[in-house]
Amino acid sequence: MDVKGSPPAYTAVDAPPPWGRSRIRRGRALRLVVITCIAFIAFAQWRQISSPSPPSQELNAHGLSLKQLQENLATCAKLRKPAEDPIGAGRERNARYLDGHSPTLIKNATIWVGEPAEGTSAEDARKGKGYDWINADVYLEYGLIKEVGSSIAESRIAADTIVFNAQGRPLTAGIIDMHSHAGVGPLPELRGYEDSNEVSSDITPYVRSIDGFHPYDHQIEVIKSGGVTTSLILPGSANNMGGEAFVIKHATGKSDGRNETSINDMLADPERNWRFMKMACGENPKRVYGKSGEHGPTSRMGESWEFRHAFEQATQYVREQDDWCEAAAAGLQNVKRYLRQEIRWNSLGALLRDQVRLNTHCYTIPDLEAFIEHTNEFKFKLRAFHHAHQTYMVPDVLKRAYGGEPPASALFSESMWYKAEAFFASEHAGKYLWDNGLTPIYVSDNPVLNAQHVVFEAAKAYRHGLPYHVALASVTTAPAYRLGFGKRLGKVKAGFDADIVVWDSDPLSVGATPVQVWIDGTAQFEDPVELHKPDAKVMVPDEKLANIVEKPELLDEVIFTGVSHVLLPGVESNRQTHTVVFSKGKIACIGACVRERDVASRSDTTIIKLENGYLTDSLTAFGSTVGLNAIDAEKETDNGDNAKIFSRAEDGLRLDDTKLHTAYKYGVTKAISAPKFRGAGTHYGTSAGFLTGATSALEKGAVFASDVAVHYTLDQAAKTGDTTSISVAVGALRRKLLEAAALEESPADAYCEAAFLAKVVNGSLPLVITAQSADSISSAVKVKATVEAVTNSTLRLVILGGAESWLVADQLADAGVGVILSPLFSYATTWDQRRALTGAPLTNGTAIDRLLDAGVPVAVGVNQDFEVYDLGLQAGIVYKNGGGRLSEKQALGLVSGNIYKLLGVKQPGAAEGHFVIHEGNPLEIGSRVKGVAGGRREMTVF
Ligand SMILES: *[C@@H]1O[C@H](CO)[C@@H](O)[C@H](O)[C@H]1NC(C)=O
Ligand SMILES: *[C@@H]1O[C@H](CO)[C@@H](O)[C@H](O)[C@H]1NC(C)=O
Ligand SMILES: *[C@@H]1O[C@H](CO)[C@@H](O)[C@H](O)[C@H]1NC(C)=O
Ligand SMILES: *[C@@H]1O[C@H](CO)[C@@H](O)[C@H](O)[C@H]1NC(C)=O
Ligand SMILES: *[C@@H]1O[C@H](CO)[C@@H](O)[C@H](O)[C@H]1NC(C)=O
Repeated sequence: MDVKGSPPAYTAVDAPPPWGRSRIRRGRALRLVVITCIAFIAFAQWRQISSPSPPSQELNAHGLSLKQLQENLATCAKLRKPAEDPIGAGRERNARYLDGHSPTLIKNATIWVGEPAEGTSAEDARKGKGYDWINADVYLEYGLIKEVGSSIAESRIAADTIVFNAQGRPLTAGIIDMHSHAGVGPLPELRGYEDSNEVSSDITPYVRSIDGFHPYDHQIEVIKSGGVTTSLILPGSANNMGGEAFVIKHATGKSDGRNETSINDMLADPERNWRFMKMACGENPKRVYGKSGEHGPTSRMGESWEFRHAFEQATQYVREQDDWCEAAAAGLQNVKRYLRQEIRWNSLGALLRDQVRLNTHCYTIPDLEAFIEHTNEFKFKLRAFHHAHQTYMVPDVLKRAYGGEPPASALFSESMWYKAEAFFASEHAGKYLWDNGLTPIYVSDNPVLNAQHVVFEAAKAYRHGLPYHVALASVTTAPAYRLGFGKRLGKVKAGFDADIVVWDSDPLSVGATPVQVWIDGTAQFEDPVELHKPDAKVMVPDEKLANIVEKPELLDEVIFTGVSHVLLPGVESNRQTHTVVFSKGKIACIGACVRERDVASRSDTTIIKLENGYLTDSLTAFGSTVGLNAIDAEKETDNGDNAKIFSRAEDGLRLDDTKLHTAYKYGVTKAISAPKFRGAGTHYGTSAGFLTGATSALEKGAVFASDVAVHYTLDQAAKTGDTTSISVAVGALRRKLLEAAALEESPADAYCEAAFLAKVVNGSLPLVITAQSADSISSAVKVKATVEAVTNSTLRLVILGGAESWLVADQLADAGVGVILSPLFSYATTWDQRRALTGAPLTNGTAIDRLLDAGVPVAVGVNQDFEVYDLGLQAGIVYKNGGGRLSEKQALGLVSGNIYKLLGVKQPGAAEGHFVIHEGNPLEIGSRVKGVAGGRREMTVF
């Protein structure tokens, strides 16, 4: 069926001869056009003489409207013109600029321009050399950066200019997130607003993310508060062909300086020079669509067929259009039908005509290789693989992509293990890709990660070996280029769009937070909360971070010198530097250690000289699934859910897997995990404390605390089976506790639920309730009071989760209830978390600041298992952004000692052979673990 829908909106073109790019063919084409025109004029005159009908009804020899045919012919020109990147320099004003906004002068900023100094060789630039931070002023006018220069005189600029003094702080272009579902999957997630996947069919290249985009999604503002000004809004990854995507800027409605609250007003390029598309391969499409015996895809093989079948049809569609256009150009009289225009194939046709920037979600080598083959078979360009965890293993495959430019890899820094295809991943992937001449780009997949912190992904890429300037480029210039905005976004240069962030500290430092954000030259925050970081300076890149130790050594004797900070609980030292001696599983000496060094110098003991060494407690992962699960979505690797039956984590421990090895490597030598209730992040049963370095639970000391606490879940997951509501769940918990209080003698099975609850009600075991909402937390506190009134003893209640705990912080403090925040920084992903505080510049502090101020005992848990990579950095954010609330040692306590204090369990500490040696401050991005002692005879040394 021909559909006479309006053609896609492109830049107005002066109908250049559309077919072919060679001069010769163009000449021929021109002749054809001229001949056609002459023929048409002659025909029209003949019609006028021979027929009295009005011109609007003029028909060709086959009875088709000539007017319509001419419109079709004009469409041919648009169809056959490949898209081009929109210009940057040379614009008088940004097409997004709205009248009435004053120019802005940002004075005294330390600027990351986004490109190396002139004269830098391509080879040096590739190594991240030639880039620098410069001190200058920036002048913004008509939505553009008009000038970047030292000391722009106020006398030279418009009188109504707004002056912002950056006071020397870092300034970058707005951050670009090349993978977001903001707006199409608004937060908190509600079924009624969830529009990110069109799952009616596996092949839906024709649906468009803008048609399901909710501009009032509050998360759009939250994301911007992290300095993100531009996002690629992709359809989800359920479908092999998910649909068209759009690039938006994070300004909507009057409060952001826009006239409208509309998706149209948010488009980063109102002229829509490029179109964008999302495809996906691997686990999702076969899981969502495959139905054995009925339809595919049920395998990766079936997925490739789905792709190729769709591309085959689009190729035919394009060929048919081209044939029509050639025939029509030769004369409209003999054309037998109108130009075929079908919305179903229009988007994919545009991809084959190089008018679409394609982004494809693929993880594994077979997926990557098959897709690269499709690009060559059907001749289309791929701009980036997303979730591209295994791309670093196959650079040569990527380099075979059609079009001469290998796709970039849109990555997370550490988020992995959540399903089989995310299992083989490396935190060093970005560095390995870069070393192979490829481009890493860091993305959020918001709401999977909170895009507010996408720059932290880039920061961690730097920590894991990517050169500093390349890491900054990975969220600015690299995505700008891949999106076709290379002349407009990502750099601080005259002629670029005026999207600017002034940061309170180096954007790649821990806790970096925008002070103000401008979009198209308009400041976005009227009254931003500003964190006080007087000493923040831009970093000096540390090239040593690129020295990756793939295989650490195991040593039973090792000496570290140059340890300048000892942050062990109970150890105070005024020494400038210390030597730390590890011998046979324990610290043998901290201090001058003259005798040990003397002995070592005469033996072959390894001595490691550190610069700015730190000795700290090892860390603890609390409340995650580590030790119970290796791959989140793979049942085979999992202890399983326990929705109905109370159980003990110790009975389900599964040790010696990748999650645990990684935890250990990053200094997390202990974990306390509870059985899952229904899915990750929910708990039911007793938790076990165990060593992440143990090979089996039979190893001596592997389980250091058998039943640490009794866990229940009172969030939405509680609604299951006969428990139809939260009120039923709260009532059931209260009844069980009261029954336990009424028990006259201990149950015969000392490991049954009632036996553990008897210990909870007499205060000898803590009760840990997983809950995010202030309401569920309030219910838990009331149950505690009810039970205590009967037992006359203190019920030790701890809240795990606690997104909204800050709302009842004073009451929690009064009731002696502690909170283990998990995640540390909630962002309203669920209704129960909707009042989470997301921090400066939007809110004054986050939950942890409010809890600390109220005097609530707090610790930090692990919400997603990959967080074992950066527990120290999470403590670092609390330290940096806490305005002096905590010392460094206290901040580290959030992910170590505090957990044990809250639960009343003794922590295996340095005396038991648990400690970590770092080079650099473990709260800072540039630190690295040099040695881990985790209760084993040997120390793991990097
Ligand atoms: C820029 O700001 C820094 C830090 O506040 C200050 O030391 C310096 O004097 C300022 N420079 C100028 C030119 O105002
Ligand atoms: C936007 O609003 C301003 C102020 O109300 C007005 O001057 C301007 O013409 C409007 N621009 C557009 C494009 O509607
Ligand atoms: C609490 O109850 C448990 C089980 O009945 C018992 O073993 C334990 O001794 C009690 N502890 C206290 C402090 O009363
Ligand atoms: C509760 O305990 C307190 C202090 O331990 C004691 O004074 C009080 O008599 C007890 N009340 C009951 C009802 O047992
Ligand atoms: C933020 O809250 C703290 C107290 O926690 C208060 O001292 C400070 O003035 C507040 N800052 C702003 C900008 O409201």
